[in-house]
Amino acid sequence: MRKALVAGNWKMHGSRSVVAELLDALADGVADMSGGPDMAVLPPFLFVPAAADRLTDTAIAVGAQNVCDQDDEGAFTGEVSARMLKEAGCRYALTGHSERRALYGESDELVAARTAAALRGGIIPIVCLGESLSEREAGETDAVVQRQLRAVVDAVGISGLAGAVLAYEPVWAIGTGRTASPQQAQAVHALLRTYLRKRDAVIGDGMRILYGGSVKPDNAAELFAMPDIDGGLIGGASLNADAFLAICRAAG
Ligand code: PGA
Repeated sequence: MRKALVAGNWKMHGSRSVVAELLDALADGVADMSGGPDMAVLPPFLFVPAAADRLTDTAIAVGAQNVCDQDDEGAFTGEVSARMLKEAGCRYALTGHSERRALYGESDELVAARTAAALRGGIIPIVCLGESLSEREAGETDAVVQRQLRAVVDAVGISGLAGAVLAYEPVWAIGTGRTASPQQAQAVHALLRTYLRKRDAVIGDGMRILYGGSVKPDNAAELFAMPDIDGGLIGGASLNADAFLAICRAAG
């Protein structure tokens, strides 16, 4: 049985005061929740220590939105290593978010190298995969997500993926209010699971595959009801504690 995970990707949002308020609301709200899925928030790097501090002894873990591909400290301006993230209290890190791929030119190979470094450093990577609208319209969805996944499998080996989580995020559904239908999402999730199962049945069956892209309290339950959707990666709605916790409850 796979335990669902709901992670809130705060992207580049927040300020000290806004983050403090959001963390208080999350800590209070989650205290009344029993059971539920695994939960995490992924603030901008600067707010990770505050989040780790405030959420200690709650059911909500903390993660980062990226991780360096290098293990050792050194001349890598602008990067943060897995060791540093771990020391700051992170359990998870995103790799390959479509905004990193599209806006900052991260290649499949760099995403794979970041994923491998996270795993070596004891951080659980949440590896994001997804096609753009033009790729979907050209019928390339399956080829694109398999290519993105293959690069990661090539870098860490199929058994290396045991410590990872995948997130399918169709780019056309991110921040657009346009969600993939449960059936559209399920089809890609099943494809990804089959890809992994062919290489290792245990890894394939055990892999948590999250859906991301305009998940809201009112559409979460029907997405999470699909057999191969194991939780969600939540952007906009994760900036509101009530909305985020409602989505978490839908995954419980
Ligand atoms: P969204 O973002 O929920 O605002 O669509 C999801 C994501 O980019 O992870």
